[in-house]
Amino acid sequence: MCGISGIISSADVSGKLVESLRNLEYRGYDSCGIALLNGAGATVRKNIGYVADVAEKELFTDVKGRVGIAHTRWATHGKVTSGNAHPHLCCGGKTAVVHNGIITNYRKLKSDLIRKKHSFKSETDSEVVAHLIEENLKGGGSLEAAFIKALRMLEGSFAVAMISPGEPEKIFCGRNESPLILGLGENENYIGSDFNAFVEYTRNAVVLEDGEYAVVSREGYEIRRIGDLEPIERDILRIEWDVETARKGGYPHYMLKEIHEQPSTIGQVLEIPEEHIREMAEKMLSARNLFLMGVGTTYYSAMMGQYYFSSIAGIPAYALSSDEAPESASIGRNDLVLAVSQSGETYDTLRALKTAVKNGARTAAIVNVIGSSMARMAESVIMQGSGPEICVVSTKAATSQMLTLMRLALEVGALNGAIKPARKKALIEKLNGLPSVISDFLNEYSGFARSLAQRHAGHDSWLYLGRGVYYPVALESALKVKEVAYQHAEGMPAGFLKHGTIALIDDKIRSMVFFPPQAEKELFKTTVSAVEEIKARGGKVVAFHSSKSLANSGLLDDQLLLPKAHPFIAPIVSIVAAQLYAYFTATALGRNVDKPRALAKSVTVA
Ligand code: AGP
Repeated sequence: MCGISGIISSADVSGKLVESLRNLEYRGYDSCGIALLNGAGATVRKNIGYVADVAEKELFTDVKGRVGIAHTRWATHGKVTSGNAHPHLCCGGKTAVVHNGIITNYRKLKSDLIRKKHSFKSETDSEVVAHLIEENLKGGGSLEAAFIKALRMLEGSFAVAMISPGEPEKIFCGRNESPLILGLGENENYIGSDFNAFVEYTRNAVVLEDGEYAVVSREGYEIRRIGDLEPIERDILRIEWDVETARKGGYPHYMLKEIHEQPSTIGQVLEIPEEHIREMAEKMLSARNLFLMGVGTTYYSAMMGQYYFSSIAGIPAYALSSDEAPESASIGRNDLVLAVSQSGETYDTLRALKTAVKNGARTAAIVNVIGSSMARMAESVIMQGSGPEICVVSTKAATSQMLTLMRLALEVGALNGAIKPARKKALIEKLNGLPSVISDFLNEYSGFARSLAQRHAGHDSWLYLGRGVYYPVALESALKVKEVAYQHAEGMPAGFLKHGTIALIDDKIRSMVFFPPQAEKELFKTTVSAVEEIKARGGKVVAFHSSKSLANSGLLDDQLLLPKAHPFIAPIVSIVAAQLYAYFTATALGRNVDKPRALAKSVTVA
């Protein structure tokens, strides 16, 4: 939701903090700020806007200091104002605090503090932490004791970092249900809400678990449990992502770069050892019920999985939107819940996973971020290895999740005899060919996707339709244009249209229809029927398909003629085509592609 960074060094850290904030900006970007220790108190600079603009306007790098914390915000409590931006100070202006998450009892804490004469400058839940520490210090005792006492008073989720001139050589931080990681450098240490906070400076990290706090100095760190102060020893994690991977590499936007990375990220999924896939497949097969969970794009990845499990493995795998899962499905012992998540931190999916654990279900996850909460919580994990996805809109992470689920469906199908070894082998060959199919598509068809997008960017109300596995393809494609182009796009099964929504059809609402390859005769025929129903009512239809005869039939108003691909992998080609279409629609409309309005990369609140 928001990004936290902290650096303690023997040289000025203001420039590095700004760099770190830039790398964290995808987590939230409505306002940002820094606090540095350089004398009597903590100097805070903050304002609303993007990091580069605020840093320039507020002269962040003019503030010097060897210990600092920083924050980039995505508002939850309180409007987007300079006052609500982090860091927050206590009344005396000494203790500076940054916070991610939601403190659910902040109203009660705030009114108690106001009664004790604390005055608040923001509407945030976060500011209470600075005042609590100040209040706790009144009884004497150390800053560390006051910090721990404050953390123990918080209910809800938090990742908190604090600096104070009372202990000018330390950064204090702690977490509960919101990620926080330490970065270990040479005579310089870091904290961050994820690796991007410090990956430019060090690859060595230590992950804090829920209910732990750390005191970080220039030379080292100490981790303890907040509850009983028990010291914690934790292995150092080596981050393999390189800095350049996290940069744009010549593309105008991260979204386009990440779309173009897909031949390689799909290749990564194909490299996951078969034994690892088989291990997970065996667990899936022995489960009473199999639930695939995600939210937003990851729900659509899970839905793709549902269709592949049904058609390839012949078993039901129920895709659930994780925000509704705990209420909509009774999940219990012997069930297996597989969470799908790029960040591994999404609140809704984490809650669904926790509920599954509580109910005695077994858990698994497909995750991109190493060391994330889901990667650590699930019993079995497949790391998708897509590298950092910086654009808020998910592209390469999504196709890798779909591919992983396809591999799992194939393995389950082979284990339970739903597919013969020869068919499995043939389909694996198709999967192995996918990176070059996608690479050719990106090289040869991007121009067509761009022209199509430019022709239709002016139409802002759409129905996105598909049948079978092309239904989740349509849903995901609709989500892409909603997110990045701000167009109204309603995804639905093409067969569902005639049961009500067809009443909307006129010459103003457009339909975007996703076709299977013509070899899938029945699905192809019924998709044509849906188009005919729309045309009969004066609707305009644009289609993504690979059929020369359909192209020449005169039925469609416009189209993107896709390359021919085997039915097993063709849905992924359509997804990539729709990503490009959404990207070019957004650029035609001048949208903020990598940071669309109102969105955050990782949604870690309810
Ligand atoms: C995707 O384009 C979205 N930004 C969003 O739907 C995202 O997929 C969802 O919030 C889940 O995030 P996760 O993969 O990090 O769990």
